[in-house]
Amino acid sequence: MCGIVGYVGYRKAYPIVLKGLKRLEYRGYDSAGIALLNGKINLYKKQGKVAELEDFIIGKNVEGTTAIGHTRWATHGEPNDRNAHPHLSQSGELAMIHNGIIENYASLKEDLLKKNYAFKSDTDTEVLLNFIEDIYKNNGSNLEEALRIALKRVVGAYCILLIENKNPDTIIAARKGSPLVIGIGKNEHFLASDASPIVEYTKEVVYVNDYEIAIVRPDELTLKNLGNEKQTPFITKLDMELDAIEKSGFEHFMLKEIFEQPKTIFDCLRGRLNAEKGNINLSGIDKYLDAICHAPRIIIIACGTSWHAGLTAEYIIEETCRIPVEVEYASEFRYRNPIINKGDMIIAISQSGETADTIVAIEKAKEQGAIILGVVNVVGSSIARISHTGVYTHSGPEIGVASTKAFTGQLAALMMIAFKIAHYKNTISEERFLHLCNELAEVPEKVEKILQQNEIIKNIAASLKTSDDALFLGRGYNFPIALEGALKLKEISYIHAEGYPAAEMKHGPIALVDEHLPVIFIATKDVYHEKIVSNMQEIKARKGKVIAVMNEDDNITPTLADAVIKIPEADEIIAPVLNVVPLQLLSYHIGIARGCNVDMPRNLAKSVTVE
Ligand code: F6R
Repeated sequence: MCGIVGYVGYRKAYPIVLKGLKRLEYRGYDSAGIALLNGKINLYKKQGKVAELEDFIIGKNVEGTTAIGHTRWATHGEPNDRNAHPHLSQSGELAMIHNGIIENYASLKEDLLKKNYAFKSDTDTEVLLNFIEDIYKNNGSNLEEALRIALKRVVGAYCILLIENKNPDTIIAARKGSPLVIGIGKNEHFLASDASPIVEYTKEVVYVNDYEIAIVRPDELTLKNLGNEKQTPFITKLDMELDAIEKSGFEHFMLKEIFEQPKTIFDCLRGRLNAEKGNINLSGIDKYLDAICHAPRIIIIACGTSWHAGLTAEYIIEETCRIPVEVEYASEFRYRNPIINKGDMIIAISQSGETADTIVAIEKAKEQGAIILGVVNVVGSSIARISHTGVYTHSGPEIGVASTKAFTGQLAALMMIAFKIAHYKNTISEERFLHLCNELAEVPEKVEKILQQNEIIKNIAASLKTSDDALFLGRGYNFPIALEGALKLKEISYIHAEGYPAAEMKHGPIALVDEHLPVIFIATKDVYHEKIVSNMQEIKARKGKVIAVMNEDDNITPTLADAVIKIPEADEIIAPVLNVVPLQLLSYHIGIARGCNVDMPRNLAKSVTVE
């Protein structure tokens, strides 16, 4: 949430920072702003998207080789020009951008008000900035020291970039809880919330750690901890191509990412799953295989779509590995007093690797001695780094705010983990293991086939676009897919949608059914198939509109359904990764038909770095 960009070097900073903001816009789009240093700080900010800021800046002074920029997802203070970042300090000497939340801002503000500070915005950021300025004026020998003193008194999360009139070629940055990457060029440095604004210029990056301060000049990067001790920057090479963060001919990132899935799932399996030899090579878990096999319990923690991947994994792990699994919302887990027993294993799932609730939940579990296995997409992200071990999903950058390819990557990774443990633990036969490996290897090709039904799904979407509500029903492995289908529809089209286990209909939700209600059944063949067909009949009898995701050779379902989407046959354990794909497309097309901004749905932002 909130994207931050900075540049210090020899080139004009404005176009670099503006382009960076466009790349980071998925992290928040309530307002955008830029501060440029050219003799003095020139500040431009505007409510709305980066394009509105760009229009506003036309004809203004954008000279300078140092700049910071921000794209906001509002926390403190409504989205308007006043609350947009960057903020200027009271003296006008300092400008700052911030991603995170300063929890003790109210008490800091009270003290500053007593000292006659006046505030132009409602933000916690302006409070922190004036707090830094106050220390700087009174007892800090330089900005860096003032910042260090201030941060020791701050409660909350932050990634901040600071500039001052006095030092036109320096950006000072600090992080705790919110991400910061620094790209290293020749006589230039790039700062950003993630690598996407940087990859065009350099592949050498440093991921700044919590409680570190970076003093960044064109030819020098100095990292220090809050105790003023120098830290050695650990330079890593980005494994990302520019193409991965562009639309590549697709109208929207969401559509591009849905269509990328045959490749991204293949990338997740590549070099790990050898179906012919019956081998799954996951170096991340080898060392922990015995610990996992003997774990009394696995606890999965995640949020949103990643939580749905976790719920699917619960069904799969319990069935194949015979280890009890609990799936927890990270936001609940972190505030409860959860029972973690000796040997319990935590699987933390996250696309971004930066979700604040998941990070804190991991820290809490770690304190209690749990081993953390991260299933993460973004390489080098906070969760990847704080986990004891992990499995990357290798889905590539996901820019569309609604998660699609990251979800199928998570499922593929979790399936490999489950099958590997089950094989090692002997809880499935060799024959079953080989069968599941083969089935998993066939997923990319089957997804390709599902995507060929895009036009059919688009037509179904046209018939649903005026609905006010929708129900998604599934049983067993497909219950989490029903939840995910409903979440996608809600966030992309703003249609109210609910996911339920199909058998729960009779316990309440069936009261909603009438001729206006679309009910989307995930009804591919599994042990429950006859039962879900009965559930379909119950909906039909009450005149509900039935849309069925079903297997190609199913002759009964089409007689009950108003519309069908056909899925290639697959083992019931593998089916969820296929069944979700048409639901992603359905939401996309309904969203488009309703005129929604599918890549940037209202009120949302990618990477929820605040709680
Ligand atoms: C939904 C969506 C969110 C995320 C959730 C967790 O489409 O994208 O529900 O799944 O915010 O994010 P990560 O996986 O980055 O921890």
